[in-house]
Amino acid sequence: MILAKNITKEYGEQIAVNNLSLDIPQGQFFGLLGPNGSGKTTTIHMLSTLIRPTSGSISVNGIDVQKGPQTVRKSIGLVFQESALDRTLSIEENLYFCAGLHNISKKSAGPRVNELLELFELQSKKNATVGNLSGGMRRAVDIIRGVLHAPKVLFLDEPTVGLDLPSRRRIWRFIKQLIDEQQLTVVLTTHYLEEAAPCDNVAFIKEGSLVSEGAPEKLIDQLGKTIIEVNGSDTNALIERLKLKKYEYMIEGGVLLIRIKDYETNKLDVIQSTLRDEADAISVRKSNLNDVFLWLSSNDHGLK
Ligand SMILES: Nc1ncnc2c1ncn2[C@@H]1O[C@H](COP(=O)(O)OP(=O)(O)O)[C@@H](O)[C@H]1O
Ligand SMILES: [Mg+2]
Repeated sequence: MILAKNITKEYGEQIAVNNLSLDIPQGQFFGLLGPNGSGKTTTIHMLSTLIRPTSGSISVNGIDVQKGPQTVRKSIGLVFQESALDRTLSIEENLYFCAGLHNISKKSAGPRVNELLELFELQSKKNATVGNLSGGMRRAVDIIRGVLHAPKVLFLDEPTVGLDLPSRRRIWRFIKQLIDEQQLTVVLTTHYLEEAAPCDNVAFIKEGSLVSEGAPEKLIDQLGKTIIEVNGSDTNALIERLKLKKYEYMIEGGVLLIRIKDYETNKLDVIQSTLRDEADAISVRKSNLNDVFLWLSSNDHGLK
C-alpha cells in the first residue's frame, strides 16, 4: 500500500530523514517510532504528499505521490497533533463540514457519520460543542474526521500526546477496531514506544535513519523477555559486585537494567541475593519496545 524507496529530506545542512525505505502492505498497523526530532513527522508529511522528499520515491496505493498527489490525497486520511476541528461547532457540525470538503453531501455522509460515532461511543454527544469536550473525546472526533471519506490509509502523527492514560487506551481500542472492521492501513508515529505494542510491524528511526524494523514480539524476543531494574546510589559498585560480564546490562537514567532471555528464576535469585546489600530496590518486569530502542541506540551494548 505504501512503498518508500530511499527517501531523504534535507533542510539546508540539516538532514531530517536519511535514505529511509519502507514497505507497508494493505491492512497493516505500522508504527514509526523514535524520540523527538528523529524525523517521524517529516516522514509522514512526505508519505502524505504534504512535503516533497529531497530525493527518493514514494507510491501510495500504486500511485507516485509526485505525479498524482491529488489522487493520493483522496485515498488517505490525516490526523496530526494539532486538532483540525472548529471548537465553536458541535461534533456533528464539524463532521458534516468535513464531509462537504470531500464533496460528500450531508445525506450520503449520514450513515457513515452515525456508524463512526457509534464505533467511538460518541453518539450521545453529537450535539456537544467541540470546545467543551475532554481532550480524549476531541482526539476521537479528530480521528473520525480523518476516516470520514473512507480512506485506504490513515496517518496518525502522535495521536495520544497530552492525553491521560485512560484516554490513550480508549483511543488505541478505537484505532484497533477501525483496522479490524474497516481493513484500514494505519501508519502511526509515537515517541511513547511501548504504546506501539499492538502494531503488526514497527520501524525505529534515530536522527532520520532506520535503526531496526520488525514485529514487536520478535524484537522483544531478541532482546529478552524480562528486565531486572536495580536502583542504587552507586551503580558502578553494583556492576562490580555482580561481576556483570555474564549479563547483558545497561545504565539508563541512573538505573541499572539487566536483560534476561526469559523468566529464568535461578538468574533472578543470583542477581537478587548478590545485590541485596548494595541495591536500594530490585524489581522485575516484562521488557517492552522502549527497552528494545534503548538497547538498539546504546553504542556499548548493541542488540546483536
Ligand atoms: N521545516 C523545517 N525546517 C528546518 N528543519 C526542520 C523542519 N522540519 C523539521 N526539521 C528538523 O528535522 C528534524 C526532524 O523533525 P521531525 O520530523 O519533526 O521529528 P519528529 O516528528 O520525530 O519529532 C528535527 O531536527 C527538526 O528540527
Ligand atoms: Mg513529530
